[in-house]
Amino acid sequence: VRSPVRIAITGAAGQISYSLLFRIAAGDMLGSNQPVILQLLDIPAAKKILDGVVMELQDCAFPLLVDIIATHDPLAAFDQVDIAILVGARPRKQGMERKDLLQINGDIFKRQGQALNQVAKRDAKILVVGNPANTNTLITMSNAPDLPAENFSGMLRLDHNRALSQVAMKLAQPVSSIRKMIVWGNHSSTQYPDLYHAEIDGTKVTHLINDQAWIEDYFIPTVQKRGAAVIEARGLSSAASAANAIIDHLHSWFLGTRENDWTTMGILSDGSYAIPAGVIYGFPVVCTDSKRKIVSGLEIDSVSRMRLTAAYEELVQERDAIKQLLP
Ligand code: NAI
Repeated sequence: VRSPVRIAITGAAGQISYSLLFRIAAGDMLGSNQPVILQLLDIPAAKKILDGVVMELQDCAFPLLVDIIATHDPLAAFDQVDIAILVGARPRKQGMERKDLLQINGDIFKRQGQALNQVAKRDAKILVVGNPANTNTLITMSNAPDLPAENFSGMLRLDHNRALSQVAMKLAQPVSSIRKMIVWGNHSSTQYPDLYHAEIDGTKVTHLINDQAWIEDYFIPTVQKRGAAVIEARGLSSAASAANAIIDHLHSWFLGTRENDWTTMGILSDGSYAIPAGVIYGFPVVCTDSKRKIVSGLEIDSVSRMRLTAAYEELVQERDAIKQLLP
C-alpha cells in the first residue's frame, strides 16, 4: 500500500471546496490506489461550516481517506504537505475595486507563502486558485523562497477546458479528440484562448472550423467572459467546474499529460515566447515524472502576439500594484 499524500486545501468551507474535497477523497485526482490525508484550512468565522463539511466527508466512508485535519492555523494546515491547493480568498464585494481585492487577497497569499516556506515538504507542489490567481501565485512563490519556483502554478485549466468544450460543441466532436489547445496569459478577460495549434487527428482545428468570424467574434470572447456568464446565470461563481479543473490540473502534473498533447498552466515566465521573466503566465506545458516543461518552438503570428503582449502588460500592472508584498 502506498503511503498517504498530504493535501492542504484552503478555503475549505467555501463553494469550490464543496465540489472538490469529495472528488479528491474518492481518488479522482491522484488515482484509486493513492490514499490521502486532507488538511483543511479556513478562517475562524467559517468554523461551523467547516465542521459540517468534515462530518460529510466522514459520512462518505471513503476507503482512500486516511485522516482529516480541520484548522484555522496555516502552520497546522500546511504541516508536511505534499500538495497545497490555495482556494481561499475574499470575494469581490460591491463597490470594491480590482486593486482593493489585489491588496486584501495579496496579503492572505503572502502569509500563506511564508507558512508554506516554514512547514511544507521541500518538494511540495502548490496550486493557486483564489483570484487574481496569477498574481497570487507570484506572491505565494516569492514568499516561499526555500521551495522551488518550478513547484508553483496558477490555475488556467478552467479556461483551457472551456476552450476545449466550445470547439467540441462547434465541431460535434468528442472533447477527447481535441489536442494542443492553449490559453495564454492571465486568468482574466485578457487571457488568449489560442486554437491555432489545436488539432483533431492531426488536422488543424481552424481548418475544420473554417470560420474566422466564429473564432474572433464568438470563441475568444465566450471563453474570456465565461466566468461572468456563469455568475450572471447562477447568481454564484463557477464552483463545480473550477473544482473539476483543479482535479485535472493536478492529475496532469502528477500523472502526466497524454502523448502528443499538452495542457495549460500558469507558471513563472522564463523568457519563452518573448514573455519577459518574472510573471505567472499561462503557457502550454507537457508533464512527465511530476515535472513540467514549456512546449517550445510554436509559431506566434502577429495578431496572436498582440494578445500575448496585452496579457503580459496586465500582469505587470498587477505586479506593480502589489510590489510591497514581494520581498
Ligand atoms: P467562497 O467565497 O465560496 O469560498 C472561499 C472560502 O475561503 C471561504 O470559506 C472563506 O472563509 C475562505 N477564506 C477566506 N480567507 C481565507 C484565509 N485567509 N485562509 C483560508 N480560507 C480563507 O469562494 P469560492 O467560490 O470557493 O472561490 C474561491 C476563490 O477561487 C475565489 O477567489 C474565486 O474568485 C476563485 N476562482 C478561481 C478560478 C480559477 O479558474 N482560477 C475559478 C473560480 C473561482
